Amino acid sequence: MTKKKLKQIFFPLFNSFLFIFFISCGFGFDSPMSTFDAQGPVAQLQKDLFLFVFWLAVVVFILVEGAILYASYRYRQKDEKLPAQIHGNTKLELMWTILPSIIIVIIAVPTVMGIWKTQVMPDEENSIIVDSIGHQWWFEFRYPKEEIVTANELHIPENKDVIVNIESQDVIHSFWIPKIAGKVDMIPNHQNKLWIRADNPGIYYGQCAEFCGIAHALMKFRVVVHTKEDFEKWKNDMRTPPAALNPGSDEDEGRKLFVGNCSMCHTNDSYKKAAYHKEIQNQNNRWEEWKKDKEYSAIVSAPNLTHFGDRLTIGAGLKDNNLETLSSWIENPDNIKIGTRMKNHAAIYNSDDQFLTSNEIDQIAKYLLSLKPDKVNVITYTNK
Ligand code: CUA
Repeated sequence: MTKKKLKQIFFPLFNSFLFIFFISCGFGFDSPMSTFDAQGPVAQLQKDLFLFVFWLAVVVFILVEGAILYASYRYRQKDEKLPAQIHGNTKLELMWTILPSIIIVIIAVPTVMGIWKTQVMPDEENSIIVDSIGHQWWFEFRYPKEEIVTANELHIPENKDVIVNIESQDVIHSFWIPKIAGKVDMIPNHQNKLWIRADNPGIYYGQCAEFCGIAHALMKFRVVVHTKEDFEKWKNDMRTPPAALNPGSDEDEGRKLFVGNCSMCHTNDSYKKAAYHKEIQNQNNRWEEWKKDKEYSAIVSAPNLTHFGDRLTIGAGLKDNNLETLSSWIENPDNIKIGTRMKNHAAIYNSDDQFLTSNEIDQIAKYLLSLKPDKVNVITYTNK
């Protein structure tokens, strides 16, 4: 083989390798889902381990491919003579058995240590505890110590250990916040644990990372990392009722429509005292109802909508939360996310005499957007 031919083979190979590497990084090390922009100790540990194994693999790749290329060139066929016929080579065989074993051990030590570090939970007394429950296709977050329940937006303070108890109500999902930690499977009837800590305030992206059905790729969430003070404010806000509505206003009309059409599945008053345990009970009842008749049940598990007007996104992290997107969602969730149980089960989509007019849809959307704690605590963090 000539040098030119070698170049013709080697450079395209090398370039496609780089291309695949950068594609898999999502074209940027600081994109919202990049694991290379670690913003917490667990993600940092996972990133360091990945890079360690990656560069070790690069060295092995270059040595092995180099040896193959060298041998192919050096011992290429030059004449018609038969090469020496040998059987086995003890030295070589020992070498390529022992060397990979040593490499495996080198990889195993930090890997096992890393698994250990992520599996040993911090002290519960000094940690925030969150129960995270996967549903098709959204995330429920419960704070058992604070007795707060919310959906699709996880709120945590900066620089504080958070123990996440991970479960699922229906199928297997997976909990993943690329910049902070993950992935851990969310399994029905089995609790997994993960601890996380975020270094800086901001808004982070979360995503289901286990194929769980038609809307799997659209099952996202946001993590709002607060300063310590803002997190206290958020907890207070979750205990504060929304402002009273003016009778006859669009919002008040929307409230009536909500009570009549949506409130069987969506709770929106968990700011009340003792609401936490009631919501858990309700969510379990909804699940039992749905199990009885998966095809036609009018009741399904659904996200808690308490203080929905403060949510950043709708449809489990899919679109910004505003009147336009919310009306479009209520009109037909398929506009934004196919396969939702809401579309498949709610009477307003499936019963001829319960369809809503576009005015009624707007009224419900306005009502939902009005659901904010009376004393407003505006979130000013930016996407990370
Ligand atoms: Cu839930 Cu994929």
